[in-house]
Amino acid sequence: MVLFGILTLLAILTLILLLKLIFSWWISPTQRNHKLHRCGFEGPPPNFPFGNVQEMKKKNGVDSSFGSSKLTHDIHSFVFPYFSRWQNSHGKVFIYWLGTEPFLYIADPEFLKKMSTEVIAKRWGKPNVFRNDREPMFGKGLVMVEGNEWVHHRHVISPTFSPIKLKAMSSMMVESTKKMMDRWTTRINSGNLEINIEREIVATAGEIIARTSFGINDDNARKICEKLRTLQMALFKTTRYVGVPYIKFIDIKKTLEAKKLGKEIDKLLLCFIESRKESKVERKGREDLLDLLLHENQVDGKYGKRLSTKELVDECKTFFFAGHETTALAISWTLMLLAMNEDWQNQLRDEIREVVGDKEVDINVLAGLKKMKWVMNEVLRLYPSAPNVQRQAREDIKFDNLTIPNGTNMWIDVVAMHHDPLLWGENVNEFRPERFMDDVNGGCNQKMGYLPFGFGGRMCIGRNLSFMEYKIVLTLLLSRFSFKISPTYIHSPSFMLSLRPAYGLPLIVQSL
Ligand code: HEM
Repeated sequence: MVLFGILTLLAILTLILLLKLIFSWWISPTQRNHKLHRCGFEGPPPNFPFGNVQEMKKKNGVDSSFGSSKLTHDIHSFVFPYFSRWQNSHGKVFIYWLGTEPFLYIADPEFLKKMSTEVIAKRWGKPNVFRNDREPMFGKGLVMVEGNEWVHHRHVISPTFSPIKLKAMSSMMVESTKKMMDRWTTRINSGNLEINIEREIVATAGEIIARTSFGINDDNARKICEKLRTLQMALFKTTRYVGVPYIKFIDIKKTLEAKKLGKEIDKLLLCFIESRKESKVERKGREDLLDLLLHENQVDGKYGKRLSTKELVDECKTFFFAGHETTALAISWTLMLLAMNEDWQNQLRDEIREVVGDKEVDINVLAGLKKMKWVMNEVLRLYPSAPNVQRQAREDIKFDNLTIPNGTNMWIDVVAMHHDPLLWGENVNEFRPERFMDDVNGGCNQKMGYLPFGFGGRMCIGRNLSFMEYKIVLTLLLSRFSFKISPTYIHSPSFMLSLRPAYGLPLIVQSL
């Protein structure tokens, strides 16, 4: 009798589990898919349980010589070969599947503008499937939180980027950059002219964010950055089966590696948090991001809610990663483009001489570097550090007789829009910073066709910091060195969450 009872209970539990799985893997995604189909969206046919991931893993159709000899900026079909192929047959808005999750692919700025005006920032979600997959990297940090939680976090963090706080960071940026330059000079003097620019700049940007936002010294910053890089490689070096049910149990080695690295980074950060908590040093007037977060962890703020210790660690991790990689890549791609365009290298040097001269490099002086800003805009157009933006609808979005159903995942292809000749003209793949001379949108004929920092209320919170860091680092570098492409450079911009040079960025660096 007891055995019968247990068996019945087991059978009921199995049935409930089965129904739940059928609902979440089949019924719910299929319903969303049908609704999207009814709006007229098509896409490549998926297969269960992989969706379209198997096709995404193939690199077929890609020009295999791209990486070795040609140095073209026409990179979309190399970075996202599958999207480029599917665009040819399904247009600029279509459905594709990651496992059992349908995604709406968007490379049409007009569509994006109409849709996004219907949604306020706090009503946007981030795809659950990415939130789970990237948990070791971002946890519940600002990049991933939603709703009132997002409002709370963003409100706490925003003051870190006020002009006064930014001004206070500039001397630390100068110091870290000068240290890197002294290392380079030693190498150059010993006859070693080839430097892997990307590795060097990413490391220095890591030191900068560690010192300016968390008061962490260089050795510890290096440890955290190395672990973050390994974590990034584990998660993004290849296209994985994200969205395929139970894939984390099948791809167990990668899952455990990512979890372990995430925990190690948490532990290191927690150590610094604890020592700041115990520190008796007076910090009034020089509070950094860690002080702001700690305050919110210890006192009920305006939102009547404290940040938990996990949220605190997750925010530190998020800012550590987002705060150094993106800016470092923008500077690295800039040096690659300036190495290819000596004329622009000289124009920027002349501007630096005129505007900065012998003055201290600070935020007010930097505002005068107009050409440098055009160059930054153009670099972020051709090689956007963040090559896509993601969203998930948290309610039905209605516009133009269309209904984008609640729960729809969206992948906005920034690389595609930045390289679309219909938006930018025939010279779209040429490096022409002057297109930003009289137009903040670079002459793009659609306002939302240029999105290096995302859009709406969720736009990048760190952009002013990155403008300042970019200008400081570039001013110092161009004042002391000249740059040429190294014959060993392999042009291979690749999607690894950010847009990175897959084989590093060796340049020939000479003292002026
Ligand atoms: C060239 C440098 C940078 C680029 C290209 C960049 C790009 C982006 C993009 C595209 C987004 C997504 C926006 C959206 O979803 O609409 C974003 C968000 C974000 N960025 Fe940046 N970023 C840069 C620098 C920084 C820096 C220096 C920091 C921090 C110090 C930072 C922190 C963040 C955070 C926390 C978010 C999430 C904001 C939110 O969802 O509210 N970024 N960034």
